[in-house]
Amino acid sequence: MRAQQITELSGPASALTLGDVPEPGATHPMTNAEGVVVDVRAAGVSFPEVLQTRGEYQIKPPTPFVPGSEVAGVVRSAPEGAGVKAGDRVAAFCMLGGFAEVAVAPDYLTFALPDALDFAQGAGLILNYHTAYFSLVLRGRLSQGETVLVHGAAGGVGTASIQVARGIGAKVIAVVSTDEKERVARDAGADEAVRSDGPWRDEAKELSGGGVDLVLDPVGGDRFTDSLRSLAEGGRLVVVGFTAGSIPEVRVNRLLLNNTEVIGAGWGAFVIGKPDVNREIGAELAKLIGSGVVRPLVGASFPLSVAGAIEALELIDGRGATGKIVLDVG
Ligand SMILES: NC(=O)c1ccc[n+]([C@@H]2O[C@H](COP(=O)([O-])OP(=O)(O)OC[C@H]3O[C@@H](n4cnc5c(N)ncnc54)[C@H](OP(=O)(O)O)[C@@H]3O)[C@@H](O)[C@H]2O)c1
Repeated sequence: MRAQQITELSGPASALTLGDVPEPGATHPMTNAEGVVVDVRAAGVSFPEVLQTRGEYQIKPPTPFVPGSEVAGVVRSAPEGAGVKAGDRVAAFCMLGGFAEVAVAPDYLTFALPDALDFAQGAGLILNYHTAYFSLVLRGRLSQGETVLVHGAAGGVGTASIQVARGIGAKVIAVVSTDEKERVARDAGADEAVRSDGPWRDEAKELSGGGVDLVLDPVGGDRFTDSLRSLAEGGRLVVVGFTAGSIPEVRVNRLLLNNTEVIGAGWGAFVIGKPDVNREIGAELAKLIGSGVVRPLVGASFPLSVAGAIEALELIDGRGATGKIVLDVG
């Protein structure tokens, strides 16, 4: 099969080689059990793959390896008892191996793809939306009527979080850096948008009537303290990622003074090996897809070629990505 491999750890521009490699077996290395084999139509591209081209991600397979954590496509084979069968359209989280014509994923991380979503949208469903639901609801305890501030709101996790929060009945304030990203965040469903280089903390307090109930932060860096200051009494800040580069530190007296919380949300670490949690999140998201509120935004799509993959990775690396970036595998 055709697959994109990382052959050296030299960064997005030079790490990749397109070649013919053997198709994966049906056993998924994460579970050591038979997985769902998928004929891939679209592969999602995300921050971890950028880091993998530099050998900077926590999962460090020996080179050469096929990156790509999630795909959408058609089931070729599935184990007994899986919720999907040969011929079904699916979204699947394979962890590695997605930039290829065939991928294998654990059955509990493979979900039927509703007709309302195309394959490109399916390739943007699991990592971002499961993370959003896990972070907002299971970790952040977001409930109807609350206000949530979403950083990096035009990005993959950001747009997913806007839609999931809206689906729960929360009000969303998006933090973005450009006009174009404001448009994307509003298209995703944000009620309000504020600029990361402006007085966003004061604006968020005003727009929320005194302070937000939840901050969802995939960005980190120096905006962290202002995020804490933007919380209402009893507010929660959910830590999701560090795209700004630096890992913030908390002066815990701030938490005591305002009765606030900082909560970590590591989706992968929590859900791998917990089939029931994955099925629960998948079922809740299926309802939100059914009601029309969840519709992954595909910001750009590139072919499964070296040039295509480089463009995709550099878009993410250069802060230019909006929504989900996808490789069209055909
Ligand atoms: N905890 C988990 O379980 C989990 C799961 C999935 C992903 N993540 C992490 O969440 C983060 C976001 O992922 P994503 O897919 O949403 O990424 P993305 O689509 O590239 O969006 C990230 C956003 O971060 C903002 N940003 C601020 N400073 C940046 C900088 N120096 N470089 C790049 N972006 C910057 C950008 O928004 P503005 O330009 O508007 O500021 C950008 O839109 C990543 O760190 C990822 O690894 C964590």
